[in-house]
Amino acid sequence: MDLNSLFSVSDRRVLVTGGASGIGSMIAEGFVRGGAEVIIASRKISAVEAEAERLGAFGTCHGLQADLSTEEGCRALAEQVGQFGPISVLVNNAGATWGAPMDQHTHDVWNRILDLNVEALFHMSRFMRGDLAGMASRERPSTIINIGSIDGIRVPDMQTYAYSTSKAAVHHLTRRLAKELAPSNITVNAIAPGPFPSRMMAATLNAFQDAIEQATPLRRIGAPEDMAGIAILLASTAGAYITGAIIPVDGGLATCL
Ligand SMILES: NC(=O)c1ccc[n+]([C@@H]2O[C@H](COP(=O)([O-])OP(=O)(O)OC[C@H]3O[C@@H](n4cnc5c(N)ncnc54)[C@H](OP(=O)(O)O)[C@@H]3O)[C@@H](O)[C@H]2O)c1
Repeated sequence: MDLNSLFSVSDRRVLVTGGASGIGSMIAEGFVRGGAEVIIASRKISAVEAEAERLGAFGTCHGLQADLSTEEGCRALAEQVGQFGPISVLVNNAGATWGAPMDQHTHDVWNRILDLNVEALFHMSRFMRGDLAGMASRERPSTIINIGSIDGIRVPDMQTYAYSTSKAAVHHLTRRLAKELAPSNITVNAIAPGPFPSRMMAATLNAFQDAIEQATPLRRIGAPEDMAGIAILLASTAGAYITGAIIPVDGGLATCL
């Protein structure tokens, strides 16, 4: 057993959607520092370019503009990624949230949250499937990592009806895709993060970080290394036999149900 290669991702080409900020950027940095070639993509090209330049100091990172809120936007990103060659790791991280009383959860809100958090993840997996299968072998599967949430496991206190529903759907879709894609040597897993610092979490952490830390068994919020570590595990040979798993990375919050 060679422990140097067991956790290696240096032969990987990785696409991280929403990779210019928050959890996506933590995962992208882990892969870049691990020697992988990384592509990050989201709507704000200035943020994408700035993050690709920052990560470029540690290795190879390309930035692409993409709006994944439609099927066409997902297809356009898949086509653009082709210029770098086939990927063997897809991280479906881009997501949005919305918290408001039931009366304000209109059809438009549900559509916006589910289109991005669930449907885009499906379309990206669909469009990248050929690449992933082509790069995979039984010993070295390709991998899809979906970012779910602890809020798709427990019932959150905040009124995030569409968001928490979307994350439960991400977890179930992960298992469905794992079963579908296993014969192509593609593993599919979901990370269910607890609280991590990000644009999405900024207001919540500003107001409640102390309370959140006290309510978390490990008494802290997540750090970039926590997120990079689990992604690297799932994309390396060490994770080759894991598929269809929903993995809480939450300081133990899932034990408090
Ligand atoms: N932070 C947490 O505590 C936490 C906990 C559980 C789960 N999560 C999940 O982690 C993932 C990342 O969220 P985050 O917390 O890191 O928040 P974030 O910093 O706001 O990241 C969200 C990312 O998604 C991108 N994005 C949003 N709409 C998009 C679209 N239509 N097309 C393409 N990209 C789009 C954003 O970039 P642009 O604005 O440039 O498009 C941004 O890079 C989400 O799936 C979220 O649900 C986060």
